[in-house]
Amino acid sequence: MRTISLALKIPLAELFGTVSFYHHLSQSPPGQSAPRVCDGPVCRLRGSKQLLAELSDQNATQMPCAGRCDDFIPVLKGAEVLIGTTADNLQVCPSPLPPPNPGQTEECVFSQIRQPNRSTVLGYRQTGGYDGFIRMLDLMRPADVIHALEDSQLAGRGGASFPTGLKWKTVAEEKRGPKTIVCNADEGEPGCFKDRAIMDYDPHAVIEGMLIAAYATGANQGFIYLRYEYPETLNILAQAIEEAQMSGFLGDSILGSDFDFQIHIRRGAGSYICGEETALLNSLEGKRPFPRNRPPYPVTNGFQDLPTAVNNVETLASVPQILRNGAEWYRELGLNGHSGTKIISLSGDIQYPGNYEIPIGLPLSTLLYDWAGGATSGREVQAVTMAGVSGGFLAKKDLDVKLDNQSVTEKGSILGSGGVIVFDDSRNMVEVAANAMEFFAEESCGKCFPCRIGTQRLTERLTMNPPIPSKEVWLTEVKEIGQTMKATSACGLGSVAPLITDSLINYFPDQIEKYLDRQE
Ligand SMILES: Cc1cc2nc3c(=O)[nH]c(=O)nc-3n(C[C@H](O)[C@H](O)[C@H](O)COP(=O)(O)O)c2cc1C
Ligand code: SF4
Repeated sequence: MRTISLALKIPLAELFGTVSFYHHLSQSPPGQSAPRVCDGPVCRLRGSKQLLAELSDQNATQMPCAGRCDDFIPVLKGAEVLIGTTADNLQVCPSPLPPPNPGQTEECVFSQIRQPNRSTVLGYRQTGGYDGFIRMLDLMRPADVIHALEDSQLAGRGGASFPTGLKWKTVAEEKRGPKTIVCNADEGEPGCFKDRAIMDYDPHAVIEGMLIAAYATGANQGFIYLRYEYPETLNILAQAIEEAQMSGFLGDSILGSDFDFQIHIRRGAGSYICGEETALLNSLEGKRPFPRNRPPYPVTNGFQDLPTAVNNVETLASVPQILRNGAEWYRELGLNGHSGTKIISLSGDIQYPGNYEIPIGLPLSTLLYDWAGGATSGREVQAVTMAGVSGGFLAKKDLDVKLDNQSVTEKGSILGSGGVIVFDDSRNMVEVAANAMEFFAEESCGKCFPCRIGTQRLTERLTMNPPIPSKEVWLTEVKEIGQTMKATSACGLGSVAPLITDSLINYFPDQIEKYLDRQE
């Protein structure tokens, strides 16, 4: 660190701040070569603690959810992800392809993903890829593209559901430049693995989406901010970008037009908060990745303080299909007046885990039972998490909720980025809640104290450390800490973390009672 600090003229303290912020930067040997075992909520169900113990002679450490929840336990070693259940059966294996859609409903993002060779330019072109972009270059003005996006009602799929057309319009209307498109491929939410599937099997759809975004907004540079835990995806994306360049889809004067656009990949180093768009921008600029105060928003003051559109992988991969098939086609994919589709990453105690592209408005129970076969080994579904773990739990009659933003919010949860983790009736929900809160406490960036201290205090309440004075005090404290966090946290991490404790109190008073009785 001293050598780097001198060579790059960065104060040692600042460098220390960076090195200690990210999971995968190590201050002592063996560093990268030591195995890191996923300790996310789904891998815990599968015995990750045991695997960690088995690998202890190799100095193994744990890492937060590595986004392979539809597979065996992932272990990151050097530049490879191995998967397995014991130290002896770990092996390199491609990530699973999304299962065929069992619901017979029309798909958007996944409609071509299972075609062979879809990840090459040739395979992509043979299945209609880049058609929308070529047509756009020939026939559409940037304003027409934005109008089509607004008409489709596409909203961000990264969690906040902000209308994509409006975001692009604001960037397009800004006079300052150069403008930037950022593809948010950080996917750090436990239980979410949809962006990985899109990038692994359909990388050109992401590139085409970024090209269309750039044309519409007037941007000429793009970044894909990719989470560290996806090393194979890094290679796939790098190859796809190179192929796109060689085929004339990226670079200067694209396909003979006066439109220039280049894409660069930037790799995260292991930090959940870097998925928050302003923390991501700080990380991209080499700064400490604290979320920025807003306003101003990235659309006017983003990368290097210039207009920037930050979009999720799934959002961008939806765009070429919308341009190809039309806004009305996309709108009508949803049910009950909702527009479009959403990919749900389904994992945990469920017969058929995987990524499912559902029409927005599909009942959760249809997905759980009709599409994914219900709970494993003859058990009942006790609860699910929503939005990875950020939406807290849904249980009992609320498992019937329709999967659209409004319906899920009415149940006190959020649809967010679409991770759903299933817990069967043998699971201790207080333990599950404690693990989720521990994750938030670990990943809180520490910038504002309601979140920094609130997540710690809630973890303590869920692990009986320190002992609590009485049940009444426990309940009052947990509710008050949650309310304060929701009202005063500076970003989404601190304001959603209490949904875990709120929903635990709502659905599982009996399990809380039992947990508190153990102490008294
Ligand atoms: C704590 C936190 C983590 C987030 N992580 C991600 C992420 O991993 N990927 C993502 O696309 N959006 C993530 N978001 C949402 C982004 O801030 C932003 O809304 C999104 O990238 C915008 O793209 P979209 O409009 O296409 O959804 C996160 C937000 C918060 C508060
Ligand atoms: S809410 Fe948490 S993660 Fe967000 S800025 Fe505050 S401390 Fe950081």
